[in-house]
Amino acid sequence: MNKYDVAVVGATGMVGRMFLKVLEEKQFPINNFYAFASSKSAGSKVTFNGKEYVVLELNENSFDRHIDIALFSAGGETSKKYSPIAASKGVVVIDNSSAFRMDEDVPLIVPEVNPQAAKGHKGIIANPNCSTIQAVVALKPLYDKYGIKRIVYSTYQAVSGTGVKGVTDLEEGIKGNAPKAYPHPIAYNCLPQIDTFLENGYTKEEMKMINETQKILDDQTLRITATTVRVPVYSGHSESINVEFEKDFDIDELKQILENGPGIILQDDPANNVYPLAINAAGKNEVFVGRIRRDYSVEYGINLWVVADNVRKGAATNAVQIAELLIRA
Ligand code: A2P
Repeated sequence: MNKYDVAVVGATGMVGRMFLKVLEEKQFPINNFYAFASSKSAGSKVTFNGKEYVVLELNENSFDRHIDIALFSAGGETSKKYSPIAASKGVVVIDNSSAFRMDEDVPLIVPEVNPQAAKGHKGIIANPNCSTIQAVVALKPLYDKYGIKRIVYSTYQAVSGTGVKGVTDLEEGIKGNAPKAYPHPIAYNCLPQIDTFLENGYTKEEMKMINETQKILDDQTLRITATTVRVPVYSGHSESINVEFEKDFDIDELKQILENGPGIILQDDPANNVYPLAINAAGKNEVFVGRIRRDYSVEYGINLWVVADNVRKGAATNAVQIAELLIRA
């Protein structure tokens, strides 16, 4: 079996550390491994596959060595500056930031949904926003079978989506200390703001869900609206998704389609209080779907409750799955 030279950029961060864990768990075939971060943590060590690696400072020359694939999660500015340098040296970059997601030349990939689009890459592939990834995994098999007219997203997103500083705000908030990452206390509260506000009244997170869903499903006619909310949960994003289909459906057949959908685990047994929960999704790579019921207020509508580990399927797992697509191609 071929082995690959792999780099992780942002290896000391929350998603970066999860890249290492998922690469290990999936036994990704690695020859040489490199961990990059900023000057702040250069010289520190990370353990990968039972071996210690010294963290290297990311700079213009970092990609002068042979690297096949680089997984980036070090913020948009770092990606904007260093991904093109890496790509120009023959590295395939899988970028977790939002820097390139909407670029026409950059495929935006969820392997269960649009793996074919990865083939056209020019050195950079974008990993979608966490809340978009879990939504499109659930929606794709239904989109293919019934066609979708309109989607209403309402999210309940964990503080780990903001990285270590979000988790700290919740921990400190419970003790009564003032927030640093968020504009208001997140402890015992819900914040209807994720990222900054745009002129149209939506937040950036809401517009990411709208634009990225259209791009991944390759359907600009899809009507979508979103309200994204930060909740005092450490791990796992939950989403209420209301969908209006083009065609009628049988609810049992629809559940069967979801059950057979790639990357989906159906948890839908209301009689026994079984439905997806953030605490159960923690540490899992799949997307959990439940509370499936007809929306009687429209002709062909349903409601879904969709939950996934935002740092895994919403970030690291999806990126490693993209890397697996590349080596299988
Ligand atoms: P460092 O630990 O040296 O700051 P998180 O999103 O959890 O805060 O993690 C961000 C990751 O991105 C960290 O690994 C961080 O490294 C890395 N990072 C931040 N800025 C840069 C930069 N300018 N160059 C390289 N890595 C960076």
